[in-house]
Amino acid sequence: MANISVIGTGYVGLVSGICFAYLGHDVLGLDLDREKIEQLKNGSLPIFEPELDRIFSYAMDYKKISFTTDYSKAVEFADFIFIAVGTPPKADGSADLSFVASAYKEICRYIRDNDYKIIVNKSTVPVGTGRWARQFAVEILGKRGIKEPEERLDIVSNPEFLREGKAVYDFMNPDRVVIGSDNRDAAWRVASLYEKVNPTLLVADIATAEMIKYASNSFLAAKISFINEIANICERLGADVDVVSRGLGLDHRISPYFLKAGLGFGGSCFPKDVSALISIARQSGVEPKMLVSVMEVNALQRLRPVEALKERLGQLDGRSIVIWGLAFKPGTDDVRESPAISITEALLDEGAIVYAHDPVAKDNFKRSLKSVENLIFIDDKYDNLEHADALILVTEWQEYYDPDFSRFSGKVIFDGRNLWKKEVVLRYARDYIRIG
Ligand SMILES: NC(=O)c1ccc[n+]([C@@H]2O[C@H](COP(=O)([O-])OP(=O)(O)OC[C@H]3O[C@@H](n4cnc5c(N)ncnc54)[C@H](O)[C@@H]3O)[C@@H](O)[C@H]2O)c1
Repeated sequence: MANISVIGTGYVGLVSGICFAYLGHDVLGLDLDREKIEQLKNGSLPIFEPELDRIFSYAMDYKKISFTTDYSKAVEFADFIFIAVGTPPKADGSADLSFVASAYKEICRYIRDNDYKIIVNKSTVPVGTGRWARQFAVEILGKRGIKEPEERLDIVSNPEFLREGKAVYDFMNPDRVVIGSDNRDAAWRVASLYEKVNPTLLVADIATAEMIKYASNSFLAAKISFINEIANICERLGADVDVVSRGLGLDHRISPYFLKAGLGFGGSCFPKDVSALISIARQSGVEPKMLVSVMEVNALQRLRPVEALKERLGQLDGRSIVIWGLAFKPGTDDVRESPAISITEALLDEGAIVYAHDPVAKDNFKRSLKSVENLIFIDDKYDNLEHADALILVTEWQEYYDPDFSRFSGKVIFDGRNLWKKEVVLRYARDYIRIG
């Protein structure tokens, strides 16, 4: 069993750290956010993720995980230092590597003469970052007068593929674990950390591992934009996109996953990773026409409910509209790039009064909006529905699957996830609109 430090205790760092601790490794989680670290030291989780609280309690009870804000402790403690800080998009779509660079700087301040550390990039970073990081780190160590600086560390890429809402399951049952390094020995040492989950391993050079992550997310995003474009064509031609999607997915070369028409992709990964790959491609002299279309289709898809309500209700000024579901997908409180943000902001811009419901994501949602004027958060999904003109279903939480349809009486219903049956909704509602 190994000593592992995890830099950044967000969704990825916390889930990986806790899961490694549960597998028997000794883990130290580090974050610059003191409040988060205090909360974790007190045994409370700052994020919602199914199953995570149970294995967190186990890891805490057995003292397999602890937390700090002190880089010197994190470096001294670990043989493996995982970097899981954010890589948000810059205004031009490229990945902001400032958090990663600052983590490297801090780590390198505390590496000593006879140390050997394996630094693992778990953050999603542009192709080439691993090689740049090695040079950057060796240079810092050299300037500090550390002996044979290139012998003091190796850099490994170990991109993360977990899905929020199923993150613990995904860590314990990965489709594959991808490990990239220009030093094969370091790569296999990182692979050994996953021995207990017995994964299918793919070991590659570092740039290839970095590219696998971007290519995977871009492909999944492309499937979503593809089926949404097909849905829009189906709608005009009177075909049923759900059945088309089933027909497509039965072909094993295509597979049924990520072929559900809806309001487009969101979350902290797909939009930023596709944008980053567009930027990487352009920097390398390739114009990524397909990736650009994937983003364009997605941006248009999010605004479909607003356009549809304007067609049915005319001006939205002063109209009351209820939104069910704010998280970017069910099972998480993460609202980053959630379609609900674009929809709510567009409705508020049109002068509508928005009543918003979500089982867990209301607080995060409130923090992510430019203005909350005319936005009212409701605790019960039926609050104010009686007086509303329309309801938009954005996120398909379980509790929305089988609502009391009689409450839809007289309203325009926009089902952004094709969750309900048209004939059932139309028994009560004034109008029912779905995707495709
Ligand atoms: N969230 C996902 O589903 C997911 C899945 C796969 C990959 N990723 C990638 O993993 C990375 C992390 O994503 P996330 O969703 O966990 O981000 P997050 O924003 O939830 O967490 C990042 C954490 O890093 C901390 N941090 C920032 N700078 C730091 C520094 N210099 N030192 C120490 N801590 C620092 C922040 O305080 C925060 O707690 C990103 O590159 C992302 O693209 C995310």
